[in-house]
Amino acid sequence: MSGYTHLPKLVARFEERFGRAPTVAARAPGRVNLIGEHTDYNDGWVLPAAVELEVDVVASPREDGRVRLLAADLDRLGEFELGDSRPPEDLWMRYPQGVAVMLGRDGRRLSGMDTAYTGDVPIGSGLSSSAAVEVAFGNAFAAVSGLDIPPEEIAMAAHHAENDFVGVPTGVMDQFISALGRAGHALLLDCRTLEHRHIPINLPGVSMVIVDTNVRRELAGSEYRNRRADCEEAVRRLRQRLHGVRALRDVSPEQLEASADLLDDVRARRARHVVTENARTLEAARALEAGDARRVGELMYASHESLRDLYEVSSPELDAVVEIASSVPGVIGARMTGAGFGGCAVALVEDGAVEALRGRIEAEYPARAGRRADVYVSKPVEGAGATVLGTE
Ligand code: GLA
Repeated sequence: MSGYTHLPKLVARFEERFGRAPTVAARAPGRVNLIGEHTDYNDGWVLPAAVELEVDVVASPREDGRVRLLAADLDRLGEFELGDSRPPEDLWMRYPQGVAVMLGRDGRRLSGMDTAYTGDVPIGSGLSSSAAVEVAFGNAFAAVSGLDIPPEEIAMAAHHAENDFVGVPTGVMDQFISALGRAGHALLLDCRTLEHRHIPINLPGVSMVIVDTNVRRELAGSEYRNRRADCEEAVRRLRQRLHGVRALRDVSPEQLEASADLLDDVRARRARHVVTENARTLEAARALEAGDARRVGELMYASHESLRDLYEVSSPELDAVVEIASSVPGVIGARMTGAGFGGCAVALVEDGAVEALRGRIEAEYPARAGRRADVYVSKPVEGAGATVLGTE
C-alpha cells in the first residue's frame, strides 16, 4: 500500500472525535504539470504527473444519510445531509459536499458517513490541493457506499464539484491526474475527448523538483477568467475564416499565423501561446517516451517563455526560479506549473545536481523575492485509491 502518509495520525483524530474506528481510507495526490499549461479549457492536451504530496480521508458509514466531517488541520467539524444541493457558507465544506452532490446527481446511492481528512498539499500553491480533496472524497464515498466507480467518473464528478458547486471555472486536468496518475508515469490527456495515455518518464537518473515561490495566487481568479474569455473571443473571430473551429485546439500554428489579422494584439498573443503549447505538449510526450531529456528540457523552457511573454501569467518570482534553475549545471528544463501568478515551478534535474539547485535557490531566491522558497523532490506516484481498514 503506497501513500496514505497521514493515516496513523488521522485514524487517532477520527477515533477521538467520533468514538469509533474508521472502516475505510482513501487518498488522492496533488500534481505538477510537466507541460501543457492553459490548454485544458481550450480542448487541448496536458502532461501532468501525480506527486508525493497528498490528501488522506478516513471514514465509517452512517445509516441516516448524514455526513459529519472533521477537517483535522483546521480542527473544524461540519455536517450536511446527502441530497442537499445548496452550497454551504463554509468554503472548506463545499469540496466534499460538492462531490457528494455530483456523484448523487447521476443516480448513485451514496451512504452517509463520519469522516476526517488531512493532507500536505500546500493550499494555493498551484499543486491542486482542491482537486486532491475532491478526488479523495470521491473515492471515500465510493468505498463507504460499496460502489465501484471508475476513476474517470470520479474525476468528472470532482471537476463538476469544483466548477458548479465551489464556483471555480477550471479545466479537467487536475482532477484527472489526481484520479488516474500512475507511478513512474506522466498522463497525456486529450481534454476534449478525455482519451488518455500513461507516458513512462523514461529518464533514468533524473528527478522532478518542485519549487514553491511561496507567493499565493491572489490574482489568479480574475486573470484566469480573463484568459479564458480572451481564448473564447479569439475562437469567435477566427471562425469567420476558419470554419468548423470549436476551440483553439482545432487551430494549427500555421493557420493561426495566416489568420492573425483577424485578432487584436492581445488575443493574437494568447492564441499563439495556446496553439504552440499544444504542439509542444505532444512533442514532449514523444520525447519523454524516447528518453530524450534534452528535448523535453528545451520544450519546458519554451513553454515558460510563452507563458511569460505571450500568455502573461508568470510572475517575477516564478521567473526568478526558472532563471536561477537554468544556470545550474545538470538542470535539464524548468518552467512555471499550474495557473501561474505565483505558486510553483517544476524542473527536471539530474540526480547529482538536485542539491546544487536547492543550494542556489536558498542562496539567491530570497534576495530577489523577499521570501524563501520551499523545494520538494518527488517521484511521479500512483493516483487516488481507497482501501478497507477493517469492520467495526
Ligand atoms: C489551474 C486549473 C487547470 C488548468 C491550469 C492551467 O491549475 O485548475 O484546470 O487550467 O490552471 O493550465
